[in-house]
Amino acid sequence: MVDIRIIEVSPRDGLQNEALPVPTAQKLELIRGLVAAGIKEIEVSSFVSPKWIPQLGDIEDLWPMLSEGGLYSALVPNMKGLERAEGLGVERIAVFTAASDAFTLKNINMTVDQSLDIFRLIRAEHKGFMRGYVSTIFECPYAGLIEPKQVRKVVDQLFEIGVDEVSLGDTTGVGVPNEVRDLARELHGLDKQEIVWHFHDTRGTAIANVAAALELGYTAFDSSAAGLGGCPYAKGAGGNLATEDLVYFAHRMGLSSGIDLSALARASLSTLDCLGKLPSAKAQLAMLADE
Ligand code: COA
Ligand code: ZN
Repeated sequence: MVDIRIIEVSPRDGLQNEALPVPTAQKLELIRGLVAAGIKEIEVSSFVSPKWIPQLGDIEDLWPMLSEGGLYSALVPNMKGLERAEGLGVERIAVFTAASDAFTLKNINMTVDQSLDIFRLIRAEHKGFMRGYVSTIFECPYAGLIEPKQVRKVVDQLFEIGVDEVSLGDTTGVGVPNEVRDLARELHGLDKQEIVWHFHDTRGTAIANVAAALELGYTAFDSSAAGLGGCPYAKGAGGNLATEDLVYFAHRMGLSSGIDLSALARASLSTLDCLGKLPSAKAQLAMLADE
């Protein structure tokens, strides 16, 4: 048993946002490296429209090549996506909506209610694990500030539909610990084990938000190796919380993660190289400099 559960999202949330396409073999190398570093849960791609997100259009090639040893998942936006996922025997899926209609309309061309209707149909068909994402938990780039109540409403609807966990996304990386606490207060009565926090580090506040959530008793976090990531439908949504920063912080706080930070710091290097980027996540840089 580990003290902190980390769900790695770089192959999906990271690579969906890159202008340069990453070859399937390179994605495979990234995922292998992450598994070798001890990461269990990895969101590897999406069954979305390749016209909308061409970067992830190779999932049919990628999925069958994944090695044993990981718990892999992928995003499913609609019944067509589910059909594709079931065709490959995918057990763990994630559906995604947001706290605001303005964002879901841009992202998946549906209102929040329309998306929930579709997720109900997906839940009826899909017997395996199902995560529900709520994006824009603090602020929507189109609709402005979001009230915690709005988030709670969507979270309740997702649990009613029967998702196994909800991931709460600060899609544009605007949040600070007070906002984490305000939202957590609104989530009273829910099982903390079934809530995952998904912070972006756009403004350098992600680790402070993790610290706030940990103090409130939450132990599950999404993060992305090398801080790769963003959202194509949220301008300025810079990198995700870097997994290296999260693992360093957790270990130094005395919490076990099951992840080898040294191996993790190296796992994304060839992918960064392929994207023409240098490492920039702080704990990754420090680890590499130490070796
Ligand atoms: N996979 C592949 N193709 C899909 C698809 C899926 N899951 N869903 C729809 N399509 C295809 C349809 O077959 C149709 O193809 P055609 O034009 O060749 O007939 C076309 O896309 C339009 O279908 P429609 O149902 O009208 O979809 P849409 O245009 O309203 O788009 C989504 C809806 C959800 C498919 C699209 O918005 C999407 O993929 N968004 C990506 C969101 C995302 O990944 N964001 C980042 C993560 S937060
Ligand atoms: Zn994200």
